[in-house]
Order: sequence, then structure tokens, then C-alpha cells
Amino acid sequence: MIPINLQNRNALVCGASKGIGKACAIRLAQAGASVCILSRNAVLLEELLHQLPRTQYQNHQVLIANMEDPNDLDKKMHHLVLNHPIHILINNTGGPAAGQAHLAKVEEFELAFKQHLIANQIITSHAIQGMKDANYGRIINIISTSVKQPIDNLGVSNTIRGAVANWAKTLANELAAFHITVNNILPGATRTERLESIIQKEQLLHHKTQQEIEQLLLAAIPMKRFAEPEEIANAVAFLASPLAAYITGINVPVDGGRTKSL
Ligand SMILES: NC(=O)c1ccc[n+]([C@@H]2O[C@H](COP(=O)([O-])OP(=O)(O)OC[C@H]3O[C@@H](n4cnc5c(N)ncnc54)[C@H](OP(=O)(O)O)[C@@H]3O)[C@@H](O)[C@H]2O)c1
Repeated sequence: MIPINLQNRNALVCGASKGIGKACAIRLAQAGASVCILSRNAVLLEELLHQLPRTQYQNHQVLIANMEDPNDLDKKMHHLVLNHPIHILINNTGGPAAGQAHLAKVEEFELAFKQHLIANQIITSHAIQGMKDANYGRIINIISTSVKQPIDNLGVSNTIRGAVANWAKTLANELAAFHITVNNILPGATRTERLESIIQKEQLLHHKTQQEIEQLLLAAIPMKRFAEPEEIANAVAFLASPLAAYITGINVPVDGGRTKSL
């Protein structure tokens, strides 16, 4: 098997304190990258910082930032890239609250737009020069299979994922000439706090037990199990590596076959 080697590469993983982002940070560090981990929770990030592998003289660091606050994010990204050019960027954050689109408040859409699309744009715009200078860039957005098939009762999420996917495809076209690839990972149901909260909301909505909701979700997955966050991170590590140099502008579902379309 060809190993994934990210030695001498700097990665920024957003939403890294938990779930999929945390698994990505660990996987990229295992592959040799120096990883900057970003979220709002200083305690969880410091804990993770000490867990990250350091076998290749890696220089990991923490960036405490709120992706709902564009001005703060802009300032912090400006300072980060002065000393730490980014070659691999994982755009990831918490998912919008569950609920139907036609019942959602305008403020919910505004918040999701700010936390996802605007935050991605700010972070990415600061990262691009370092990628150009290194002749190596990987931008990987963690979004959702709802890009291909909207998910019931995730109205705001479905909407913002479509916007991020089209933003990413546009960037892929613009940045390919600089050896920068831009791809989206579409996780299926993955064992994280996000999945737990979605299951709890479904329990309340349909007056069912946790087990009943889980059985319903699993029935729609050909592999009949949820993903582990590490399985999403493995796909991210591949796209982040030199092995994926000619792959850009695509959506990669990691969903056990759940998406019904190609
Ligand atoms: N799990 C699934 O089944 C699944 C399926 C499809 C898509 N997704 C999507 O994949 C993404 C990651 O999911 P996950 O399951 O890993 O979620 P998660 O377990 O809820 O973790 C979310 C991460 O994002 C960070 N975050 C949330 N709001 C933030 C903010 N305003 N600023 C900075 N960081 C913030 C959280 O850290 P702090 O709280 O420390 O800030 C945490 O590290 C989400 O967009 C989710 O909707 C998940």
C-alpha cells in the first residue's frame, strides 16, 4: 500500500475539538503534517494538542476562534498565516440546527451563511497565498450528502451545503492552475455529537425511542452501520496528499452507500 506522507506540510483543521474535525486532525498528524486546530473550546483543543502525534518534528498549534464572528476570524487568520503558511485546509464547523426550511427564521439562515460560507471564504482567502508559494494546496470542505439529496428536517443545513458546494466548485476552477485542489467530503451518518443531537430531535418529533430512530436511519444505509469519524478522516487524508494531485472540484460521499444517486 502507498503510504500517505504529509511531512513538511502545514494543515489547518477547523471545528477540530470534536467529531469529524478531531479525527481529521489526528489523521493528518499521523501522516506527518503540522496541524493547527481551530474551534471555540480552549480546553478541548489543549487536550487534543497533547494527543496529536509528533513523530516528524511537527509543530502543532491551537487557534481559538468563533466561525460565527467574521471580524475576529479575519484578524486571527491574518496573524496565523504570518508565521504558519497553510498547505492543507479543512473547512469544517458545527451543523445548523434541525428543522424544516419553511419554518426557519431568517436569522437561522443568516447565521448558517456566516458560520459556513463566509467563514470558509475568510479562512480560505488567507490560506491561498501560502499554497501558491508552496506550489501545493489542498482545500477540503466537510459538508453533507444533502448536496446530492436533501435530508428531511435539515432545511437550513441542506440550503447552506448547496451554497458551499458551488463555492467550492468555482474555487476549484479558479485555483487549479496553482496546483491547489478543492474538493468536498460528504459524510453520511457518522458517530459524533452531531448525530446524537439529530437522533434526539427525531425522537421528540416522531415519539420514538433512540433505538427505533437508529433502526430507521440504518435501514437506509446499504452497509447497515454508521460511519466512524476516522473513516471520514481517511478520505480527507487521501485528498490532502500528493496521491490526489489530479482530483479537484468533486464531491466525495463517505456514506456507506446511503446516497441514492451517483
Ligand atoms: N455526524 C454526522 O452524521 C454528519 C453527517 C453529515 C454531515 N455532517 C457535518 O459535518 C460537520 C462536522 O460534523 P460533526 O459530526 O463532527 O459535528 P460535531 O461533533 O458537532 O463537531 C462540530 C465541531 O465544530 C466546532 N464548531 C461548532 N461551531 C463552531 C463555531 N462557531 N466556531 C468554531 N468552531 C465551531 C465544534 O467545536 P467547539 O464547540 O469547540 O467550537 C466541533 O469541534 C458538520 O457540518 C456536520 O453537520 C455530519
